[in-house]
Amino acid sequence: MTQNWSPESWRSRPVFQVPEYPDQEKLAQVEQVLGKFPPLVFAGEARRLKESLALAVEGKAFVLQGGDCAESFSDFSANNIRDMFRVMLQMAVVLIFGSAVPVVKIGRIAGQFPKPRSSPTETIDGVSLPSYRGDIINDIEFSPASRIPDPQRMVQAYSQSAATLNLLRAFAQGGYADLHQVHLWNQGFVARSPQGERYQALADRLTETLDFMAACGFTSQTSPQIRETEFFTSHEALLLQYEQALTRVDSTTGDWYDCSAHMVWIGDRTRQADGAHVEFMRGIKNPVGLKAGPSLDPSDLLRLIDILNPDNEPGRLSIISRMGADKVETALPKLVQAVAREGRKVVWLCDPMHGNTTTASSGFKTRSFDRILREVRGFFDVHEAEGSQAGGVHFEMTGQDVTECTGGAQAITDSTLADRYQTQCDPRLNASQALELAFLIAEELKARRQAIAQGVARPALAS
Ligand code: PEP
Ligand code: CO
Repeated sequence: MTQNWSPESWRSRPVFQVPEYPDQEKLAQVEQVLGKFPPLVFAGEARRLKESLALAVEGKAFVLQGGDCAESFSDFSANNIRDMFRVMLQMAVVLIFGSAVPVVKIGRIAGQFPKPRSSPTETIDGVSLPSYRGDIINDIEFSPASRIPDPQRMVQAYSQSAATLNLLRAFAQGGYADLHQVHLWNQGFVARSPQGERYQALADRLTETLDFMAACGFTSQTSPQIRETEFFTSHEALLLQYEQALTRVDSTTGDWYDCSAHMVWIGDRTRQADGAHVEFMRGIKNPVGLKAGPSLDPSDLLRLIDILNPDNEPGRLSIISRMGADKVETALPKLVQAVAREGRKVVWLCDPMHGNTTTASSGFKTRSFDRILREVRGFFDVHEAEGSQAGGVHFEMTGQDVTECTGGAQAITDSTLADRYQTQCDPRLNASQALELAFLIAEELKARRQAIAQGVARPALAS
């Protein structure tokens, strides 16, 4: 039993990155309202995800976690949700071919609203206002009224999350994700890109295999694994008032689950061992993530693991490394070594986005495709060198044709970033860049798999 924990015990700890609401009465009312709303996910689903993640600890599954940096109220539409889901399915097919293991699909969606900020204020033309903290907290418009934290926004975020999840469940189980639709997932600008052509060839092979399997008696009717898929949701559990309101006792086990998402994670800025976020997360039974940036040292990591996963349960804890392409080879090994030495069972995920943000000469915040890929390769290299298991990847991406990250086959440059720069927060891979990355990672996984099977050193891949 967790000692002295309750869904509100975080309130007596130092809390960072959570806004000061000027209207405390309204805040309390909203928390009460949310507390009566139905849970968004079921505890049993979170347990299923935990089981899938436990396989990734041993290399028997590969995790693909991806989605917006920040969801927004204004971009909420069925098409956007479908496009994101579709590119995740495409990436998963590509990664399954590369890794030869199941791919666990987890969206940064249906709750990925609140954002930690590096500065509490934003200054434009000499005017300073409170920073934008995500649509669940305040409004992105640069005006004093817009930036006041408004608790009512939590209700809108809940309702958007509920509708998003409803559609995702329908897509996952209602026929859209049937493997026979593998060609249909290749649509729009992606289909016309070089990645689209490459994907087409893979889809042809898959269809041939499905025909063969049908002849052997495995069809959509006989095999749910062909007909439907599992798609899980996740977000950073930053706004603890919202998370607490959706934390419920599971009637089948008596345990507490944060029913706002299947998986929730702790950001790099709020992972203080005695802080509010760690306190909240230690008591819920969901699978949880912990972002690990270059400032995390091995002893702090082990302390956090002790707090968050005292029973060393595989699948409970994912460490999401976000070191930056230049630091991954120096900062990650000592963490991986400490975890291995102490026998801690964790999923290692690579977020190659948050350590690689730069400002382009045009003034846009951006990330280069090459650096993103370099960090992923560095991450795999470190795990291989340490005899540890690389469990998966974590991307900021969208199903849309945006121009926010430079490079990739589309060769987006600093000067074309302005064309379709739409993010509310950090720059995202567009669908073509995301699929391209999946192909490159799949090649990497396949080469490593073959090298291990043949008992030889991994052949160097062209970069
Ligand atoms: C994020 O994932 O959007 C984020 C803010 O990441 P980090 O906590 O790693 O900076
Ligand atoms: Co981000």
